[in-house]
Amino acid sequence: MPLRAQARVNLAAIERNVARLRAGLSDGAELAAVVKGNGYGHGPAPAARAALAGGARLLAVATAREASELRAAGIDPPVLVMGALSDEELPVALGARAEVVAWSEPFVERLRDAIDDSGDAPVRVHIKLDTGMGRLGTRESDEAIRVAESVAAAAPALELAGAMTHFASADADAEFTAAQLARFVPFVRAVRDRWPGIVVHAANSAATLREPSSHFDLVRCGIAIYGCDPMNQDPAAHGLEPALELTSYVAAVKLARAGDSAGYGRRWVASSPTWVASVPIGYADGIRRALTNNCDVLIGGRRYPLVGTVSMDNITVDVGAADAVRCGDTVTIIGADGSERQTAEEIARRIGTINYEILCGLTPRVPRVYHRDGTPA
Ligand SMILES: Cc1ncc(COP(=O)(O)O)c(C=O)c1O
Repeated sequence: MPLRAQARVNLAAIERNVARLRAGLSDGAELAAVVKGNGYGHGPAPAARAALAGGARLLAVATAREASELRAAGIDPPVLVMGALSDEELPVALGARAEVVAWSEPFVERLRDAIDDSGDAPVRVHIKLDTGMGRLGTRESDEAIRVAESVAAAAPALELAGAMTHFASADADAEFTAAQLARFVPFVRAVRDRWPGIVVHAANSAATLREPSSHFDLVRCGIAIYGCDPMNQDPAAHGLEPALELTSYVAAVKLARAGDSAGYGRRWVASSPTWVASVPIGYADGIRRALTNNCDVLIGGRRYPLVGTVSMDNITVDVGAADAVRCGDTVTIIGADGSERQTAEEIARRIGTINYEILCGLTPRVPRVYHRDGTPA
C-alpha cells in the first residue's frame, strides 16, 4: 500500500539546480542557499546538504531557531540569519554560531551585550540597506555606514562581514530593480573603499536569473534551488528541475449517479453518472481549500479534475469511466506522471498565489521521502 500522502524530494535535483545557478553567476560570485521556512517545504537539513553538495557556500535562514536546527542536524558551514532578532532569539542565533544582519546602532549594542567574552570566533555581521523593499534595513546610507563603523569598532567580538539589500519586485519590475540597484551601488562603493574584504549581496532567485549586475559577491537563492520559478511560470524555461513531488493514492472509487454530490457543502453535483475517487490528502496536508472544484490531479498518466470541496483529510476526483482508475493507484498532485505534469506554479496560479506558498504550506503531516534520482537517500 502506498503512503497516504508523501512529498518525495529529489536531492540530486536540488544539487543540480544549485550547480546550474552557480554556472550562470557573474565572475567570482558565490551562492547562498536559502533554506528557511522548512527549506521551502522540502526539509531544511536535507535541502541544505544537497545545496552544499551543489556548491553553495553559505546557508541562509530567517530565524535563530532555524539556524540552531541546522546545527543540531550536524550541519557546520556558515549560516546567515536574515531576519530580525529579539532579545530572546539573539543568544539562540549566537549559540548556533550564526552570522547576523544589523541596520541600527542599538542592535549592534544589544549584540555586543549578548556576546559572552569567551574568546570564541567573532560574530560576523552583515549591514542591511533598505533600497526599496520597505521592510528590514535602514533607508539611510549614512546610517548604514555608521552601523558598519560600530561593528568594525567592536572587533574582535564582532566582524564586519557583509553589506546587503533585498529586491522588492525582481520577478516583475526590472525598472524598480534598477532603481534599487542605483541606490545600492554608491553604498557598495563606500563600504568597499573602507572595508575591501566585505561580501556584498543583493540578489534573490529572480534577480539571479534576470539581472546579472545584481550578483555582486554572493546571491541568495531560495525558490530556484528547489527547481521552481520565481516568476511563477514554467521552471523548465530556466533549466530548473522541480525537486518535490506530492502524491497520494486512490483509497476508494464509487459511482456517483446524476444528482449525487461529493464533499462538504455539496459544491459538486454529478450531472450524469460518473465514477468518483476519494484520495486521502486534504487541507491539513497543505492542499488549499481554495482549490475546491479548481485543480487537477494525475492518475495513470492522465489528468482528472478535483471535484467537490477540499476536506481536511480528503479530496474527491471525477475519474469518469469505471475502469479509469483502481484502488491503490498513485495520485500525483505536484509532479509528473507519464507525459503529464502539474507544477506548484500551475496550482498557485489557479488560486492567485505563488509557488512559494504552495510549497511552504505542505504540513508536517506529509512525510518527506528523500531520494537521489529514484535511489533512496
Ligand atoms: C532577505 C532574503 N533574501 C533572499 C531570499 C530568497 O528569495 P527567493 O526564494 O525568491 O530566491 C529571501 C526570501 O524571501 C529573503 O527574505
